[in-house]
Amino acid sequence: MAARGRFVCLEGPDGSGKTSQAARLADTLAAAGVPVRLVREPGGTETGERVRAILLDRSPGSVAHDARTDALLFYAARAQLVAEVIRPALAGGETVVAARFADSTLAYQGHGSGLPLDELRPVERFAVGETRPDLTIVLDIPAEIGLGRKSAEETTRFEADFALAFHRRVRAGYLAIAAAQPERYAVVDATTPPDEVFAAVLAIVAARLPDLGARLAAGSGEPPS
Ligand code: TYD
Repeated sequence: MAARGRFVCLEGPDGSGKTSQAARLADTLAAAGVPVRLVREPGGTETGERVRAILLDRSPGSVAHDARTDALLFYAARAQLVAEVIRPALAGGETVVAARFADSTLAYQGHGSGLPLDELRPVERFAVGETRPDLTIVLDIPAEIGLGRKSAEETTRFEADFALAFHRRVRAGYLAIAAAQPERYAVVDATTPPDEVFAAVLAIVAARLPDLGARLAAGSGEPPS
């Protein structure tokens, strides 16, 4: 049976470039011969996509949710993603690259909306069990810069409906989460050009997860710098 795959997560505030950096990381690992599964939250399963539609609905007349409702919906989508995609992929030896995971709920609904973290954590555990990233890279960016990068169409309900102060708390929340567990987290400055951010991401993956680093060094992917 294949050894359990690695679980790498990219987190960060809106506009930090997680989605494209995660896709690039997955492509580079795949080019180096690593079996990879790229996932994105919320969504990634049929149930998750339906939940995503409720969460991100900005149609006229859509009602604002209570933060607890949002948190439970994000956890519901995540529970399904873990059960249906992430856990089987890891068990089959695939490396999972995720754009967002459980820390998004702690950062947005916890630090951002003010739900108590000690109440969220048991629900997180109920939703995902032991399945946690081996490495989380936080792409750090000031709220003003991150929000300024997105067009009106790309702006989600979470960006449109919440004040700058909310997004500042989200950013500070990510930094606090990363600082509390330095062995499982790394923070990258996401204000630099995307190629520089990616070089930093790749170097961290190679250094922290030597099995992937060896594959990157040996494979045809971009070499860790
Ligand atoms: P999405 O379009 O996926 O944005 P991004 O490309 O930045 O990930 O929208 C996700 C939005 O939902 C984003 O504004 C962050 C928010 N969110 C939460 O508030 N809590 C969560 O647990 C997750 C996963 C996302």
